[in-house]
Amino acid sequence: MKNIKRREFTTGMLGSLLTLSFVEAICSNNLIAAPVRVATNKWLAEVEEASHAMKTQHCSQADWQNKIAEIFSRVEQKDLLRAIDFDRLSKKLKLVGTHEGVIETTPKRLAGMPEELAFSCFIYGMTKRASIPPHCHRNMTSMHMPIGGTLHGWHFDRISDEKDHVITKPTLDKTLAIGEVTTISDEKDNVHWFQAESEVAYTFNIGVYEVNAADKFTGRQFYLDAAHGEKTDGDKLRVRKLSSQEAYRIYGS
Ligand SMILES: [Fe+2]
Repeated sequence: MKNIKRREFTTGMLGSLLTLSFVEAICSNNLIAAPVRVATNKWLAEVEEASHAMKTQHCSQADWQNKIAEIFSRVEQKDLLRAIDFDRLSKKLKLVGTHEGVIETTPKRLAGMPEELAFSCFIYGMTKRASIPPHCHRNMTSMHMPIGGTLHGWHFDRISDEKDHVITKPTLDKTLAIGEVTTISDEKDNVHWFQAESEVAYTFNIGVYEVNAADKFTGRQFYLDAAHGEKTDGDKLRVRKLSSQEAYRIYGS
């Protein structure tokens, strides 16, 4: 199973109806050698399977969102924090000013997983003075899960675009619990925004870039003044597009 290639990984994934799933195969293989590591990192293989399926058009972005929520509902926080090396990496995050801090984390792959994963993992941190300002993504899906402190999250569906504005519909506005999964995509909840309610707060982030390989743009598309929209058409908001500088000035303090 070592050094398995992408094509073999995919074949295993699609063959899951005929035999045990590829995730199960990987975990069975690793279980013999490292029971603790399998317990902590099985989610890594499952996220890879879901992310690769989405990037190869075998599932929709909304399917990926549902699957990610289901996977992380089964992961123990203490196991996750150990797998992503939270204690060490969070100390390296520079949390100054109004920008969020971010650092990449590379959980150990199980034997049998491809060298290059379909997704990336990051730890974000922010002080009360900072935020992840409201922004939309294009050609990217993203998960944020609070893993420390207290965090408020907002989501918005992106209904339509105008030249300098976007019509949004609020879909989430709440203080998030530790371990509560939030996801956004091109299809559902395209805009998100996070603000620390405690002195410091952290989130675990998964990002899948270039969901559609034909579209070369991927990532944050632009920022939005989501808190100051003009009500329109019932429960919708017409909000102004912002530059990065404007967004951090308005949503940092
Ligand atoms: Fe984002």
